[in-house]
Amino acid sequence: MNEGAKSQAAPVRGVLGRLRAAYEELVLPAAIRIACSHPSFGPWRERALASVSGDVVEIGFGSGENLSRYPGAVRSVAGVEPSARALRASLENSLRAAFPVTVHRARAESMPFASDSFDSAVATFCLCSVEDPAAALSEIARVLRPGGRLHFLEHGLSPEPRVAAWQRRLDPIERAVAGGCNLSRDPRAMLEAAGFEVLELEEAAALGPKPWGYLYRGVARPIAD
Ligand SMILES: C[S@@+](CC[C@H](N)C(=O)[O-])C[C@H]1O[C@@H](n2cnc3c(N)ncnc32)[C@H](O)[C@@H]1O
Repeated sequence: MNEGAKSQAAPVRGVLGRLRAAYEELVLPAAIRIACSHPSFGPWRERALASVSGDVVEIGFGSGENLSRYPGAVRSVAGVEPSARALRASLENSLRAAFPVTVHRARAESMPFASDSFDSAVATFCLCSVEDPAAALSEIARVLRPGGRLHFLEHGLSPEPRVAAWQRRLDPIERAVAGGCNLSRDPRAMLEAAGFEVLELEEAAALGPKPWGYLYRGVARPIAD
């Protein structure tokens, strides 16, 4: 590119960068919050959290959507969330909780906790977006106490080949517009590859449109227990 073309492209890049930042800061968090709090997910969340107990680490804490659904057996919750905006949005829910809540600005791939710190780990609509799910699952196995369980609720790969093909085609667009979310990740395969045994699994097409609507809910334990 010659010098003239370069100097014309720079302002355009600047405007596009600002538009993207505004989208990620203002539009995306609200859109994710609205999508994740869809009423049809309520019963799925209730089932996912029903047997959570003790000291809990919740990765991809978001705005603390799960806090009001934790059962009485929960002693404390440590939320792990990289987005400052999401953490700010979680404050009200954290203050309303019936147990102590701490929030940590961190990624699930590298958590600021000692090994064997938690009785339960929770991931809801999160393993689709973490950059390195194998590293996040290995961290979960590290911070869980012996006998600890991971309780998960995720959208993911459809068993219908035509839908799965669309999920793979749409993945690059989804990643670009939805905060790194992937449609075609297979939670069961990811857990097994990371050394977890899946103890309980419920999966179903929960709502349309199909590429976004296939849900996996279950409980898993690190095999090294
Ligand atoms: C779709 S939202 C789900 C929020 C919440 N778990 C729920 O069920 O409503 C995904 C969340 O994962 C967070 N996230 C993305 N990458 C992450 C990572 N590497 N570690 C932890 N959280 C991450 C995002 O910032 C976002 O808040």
